[in-house]
Amino acid sequence: TRSRIFVTRKIPGAALDRLREAHDVSIWPDELPPTPEQLLENVAGCDGLLTMLSDRIDETVIKAAGPQLKVVSNYAVGFNNIDLKAAREHGVCVGNTPDVLTGATADLAVTLLLAAARRVEEGAAEVREGRWGAWKPSALLGVEPEGKTVGVVGMGRIGKAFAERMVRGWNMKLLYTSRSDQADVDESLRGRRVDLDELLAESDFVSIHVALTDDTRNLIDAAALSKMKSTAVLVNTARGEIIDQDALVDAIKGGRIFAAGLDVTTPEPLPPSHPLVGLPRVIILPHIGSATDTSRCGMAEIAVDNVLAGVAGRPLRCEVPLG
Ligand code: GLV
Ligand code: GLV
Repeated sequence: TRSRIFVTRKIPGAALDRLREAHDVSIWPDELPPTPEQLLENVAGCDGLLTMLSDRIDETVIKAAGPQLKVVSNYAVGFNNIDLKAAREHGVCVGNTPDVLTGATADLAVTLLLAAARRVEEGAAEVREGRWGAWKPSALLGVEPEGKTVGVVGMGRIGKAFAERMVRGWNMKLLYTSRSDQADVDESLRGRRVDLDELLAESDFVSIHVALTDDTRNLIDAAALSKMKSTAVLVNTARGEIIDQDALVDAIKGGRIFAAGLDVTTPEPLPPSHPLVGLPRVIILPHIGSATDTSRCGMAEIAVDNVLAGVAGRPLRCEVPLG
């Protein structure tokens, strides 16, 4: 029997064709996401939802879908946009898309690290805005990662892929935080698990790779930033809410850290009037960590497999544990 599926945005690749063959699928046609009201209207009567990280799937949405709803398949590895408690209480499975975006996201963290460290944004702006003057021996001096210490906050799949790149490519010393010891990281990457305070104090480069939870919201606040070296570079490709942005503005303006590279902010999109946007030492990208053809098509395959399994009452290919 055919199920009703709502997909909240067009996604790349051919995976949606498999979904359409088996089920009655409606896809939100616009580039802009459905508003909360439009989301409520469109989910009504659906057995499965394929959602983006920018769609808030709370109990209201789950209830608006109705008791036949079996699966919410998120087109992302993160799932902080979904109320997992409500999903559990209403018997709804939740899926995500890990692994296929690990390398792409780690690559973007490296990109931001180097771009912030070498002041790429400031340099490109000089050229673009006609301010490229005489070659100056001491203009736009940056910092080098070679042989320095990198601190990885959260040693999950992406944290580990990022650490591998920095240790193998730039011969960096590795400190990391993690809920558990990771013998393979300690061995193969000569990593050392430390607490956050030690990581912040000792690292020349700090990159955030934890999931957003109540424990990690504002993890990098004014107190945390004050522990970092004034020459340090901060990178965030995880979720914007993990950094207190007002505190980051102060730290950058006060020269208390060297620079920051962000792929995620609060809110998204970040309005151009936000104080972070105008700061020369902050490079901001519009949440493109997984934005490669390979990664986004891989995510589409998993997200579709998750919907197909969910509506059939089978375990999902990548199922988020609901506790
Ligand atoms: C992107 O942020 C993701 O969670 O996949
Ligand atoms: C995060 O979800 C990761 O895979 O590291």
